[in-house]
Amino acid sequence: MSIIDRIINGEKLSAEEWMEAIEYTDGEEIRAAASSVRDRIYGKKVFARGLIEFTSYCRNDCFYCGLRKSNREALRYRLSSDSIMESVDLGYEAGFRTFVLQGGEDNYFSDERLIGMIKEIKSIYPDVAVTLSVGERSYESYKALREAGADRYLLRHETADSAHYRVLHPDSMSQENRIECLHNLKKLGYQTGAGMMVGSPGSSIRTLAEDMVFMKELNPEMVGIGPFIPHSSTPFKDEKRGSVELTLRMVALVRLMLPHAMIPATTALATASDDGQLQGILHGANVIMPDITPTEERAKYMIYDGKKITGDEAGENLEKIARRMETIGYTLSMERGDYIP
Ligand code: 5AD
Repeated sequence: MSIIDRIINGEKLSAEEWMEAIEYTDGEEIRAAASSVRDRIYGKKVFARGLIEFTSYCRNDCFYCGLRKSNREALRYRLSSDSIMESVDLGYEAGFRTFVLQGGEDNYFSDERLIGMIKEIKSIYPDVAVTLSVGERSYESYKALREAGADRYLLRHETADSAHYRVLHPDSMSQENRIECLHNLKKLGYQTGAGMMVGSPGSSIRTLAEDMVFMKELNPEMVGIGPFIPHSSTPFKDEKRGSVELTLRMVALVRLMLPHAMIPATTALATASDDGQLQGILHGANVIMPDITPTEERAKYMIYDGKKITGDEAGENLEKIARRMETIGYTLSMERGDYIP
């Protein structure tokens, strides 16, 4: 049996076997298989999520990220709760039924403030899903946010390799804590998102293989994967970009390994290549996250250089997005789009 068939059969591969799969020569075979697995489970639908980047402050100092606290040039903002609600109102009117509240790790957003926001959104729009993406917090905090009504949580593991983790992060951060956070989120019943960058400094086929082993075990409901893109005011400014081809291959392999996962065609993919978003879909992704942050702030949420902000992928261009999806045989779905177990 080929290694690809073994993945499709749900076998647990070792890291060495994953390396073989990642280097498997027939990329088109992987792509076609991934695309048909997605079609079988979710149909020809691409689910839309309205992304609200509500704070660019961050207490962390990840070497790759433009929002890192040591970046003095970063433009910082926080949306007021009125402004967040206005984005939700406009988004709801446009048809979104999932809102992703994403931000840096900003102490200003205490449990109390986040709970207030979640409850307000849920009381006005009980039919929407709220996804949080606000980094590492305590079990108690995740529990309180979950009880307030949050449905899903995105927290990329970034890398499953401990030596690689140390290349990407300062000593003040810990991989152990991050992984514990992911387990806590799962335990609390969140649809939980993991994921990683492809081609970040210190990464290799081996670290990507370890990511696959880790995610098979965690079984996240969502997986975000994008190419690493350097940011000019970070320590990684002179590092090279991750490969779009390898990113697409990883998207396809994750689809084969976790057939039910919700997988976005990420903004980083769209930024790195003009047809990155469509290629993501063609490789098994089934989610897009158009940015609906107020446009004045959007430009300030710069995690890497050249991030696409008001292009064809943006929230105000939904019609255009829908038509683009149709050109490859997919329909843009505005449903809540929960994970199908
Ligand atoms: N290039 C690509 N992705 C990045 N992220 C952070 N910085 C970069 C970068 N320079 C990703 C990380 C993080 C998510 C919010 O964005 O994976 O979890």
